[in-house]
Amino acid sequence: MIKVRDLKVDFETPGEVVEVLRGVNLSVEEGQATAVVGPSGSGKTTLLNVLGALLPPTSGSVKIGGEDIATFSEKEAARFRNQELGFIFQQHHLLPQLSVLENVLVPRLAGAWSESEDETRKRAAELLRRVGLDHRLDHRPGELSGGEKQRTAVARALINQPRVILADEPTGALDGETGTRVADLLLELQKENGVTLVVVTHDLALAKRVGGVFDLSDQPDLIGVD
Ligand SMILES: Nc1ncnc2c1ncn2[C@@H]1O[C@H](COP(=O)(O)OP(=O)(O)O)[C@@H](O)[C@H]1O
Ligand SMILES: [Mg+2]
Repeated sequence: MIKVRDLKVDFETPGEVVEVLRGVNLSVEEGQATAVVGPSGSGKTTLLNVLGALLPPTSGSVKIGGEDIATFSEKEAARFRNQELGFIFQQHHLLPQLSVLENVLVPRLAGAWSESEDETRKRAAELLRRVGLDHRLDHRPGELSGGEKQRTAVARALINQPRVILADEPTGALDGETGTRVADLLLELQKENGVTLVVVTHDLALAKRVGGVFDLSDQPDLIGVD
């Protein structure tokens, strides 16, 4: 499902070029889960942003479901993000003025969908039941705990029935037990719905549970840096 070959990402800053990804190779089979680990600053978020068509790579090929996202125009990238991917950020990025149910429906506002609005609302409510929030549909994010906010973000990432879920430290802002429950949920969804899951985490216990581990600290050393 995901095949990354010789991926390089440089950032040009005044005075120097920072080589963040220096020839990354990564494969994730359809329906499998992989944890991306590595120290802070090793390029985990950068890699996830490339996979999410949010950041064009400097070079290399990045294939997801047969499409080479490295060649996408901005419009193609937007369609791909909306229809193929669910993205979960470390900070959930919920819209504070909308209810929990409305937040889950936001990705449905873009793109053309054959499903009726009623059907989508039903599915949104069903997803929120699945993540244990059926009693919070009409609440605003400000009235939720951290774990509930993150579970709302998981439901939002699923509303478009993506084939791939990308999660950037989804448990990073949560306490241990709440984080474990969000991780349980992601792994359950991956197993039951056959979605391909890539989770960035610095939590080694979570990485082990996910199964496949991709360690960015194994990249070749920076040239000229000791
Ligand atoms: N837009 C940018 N411009 C310049 N440097 C960046 C930019 N984004 C990230 N970096 C640098 O790239 C490195 C990797 O960042 P990141 O992918 O966020 O790491 P991680 O998520 O593993 O902590 C860091 O050194 C960071 O400062
Ligand atoms: Mg990061």
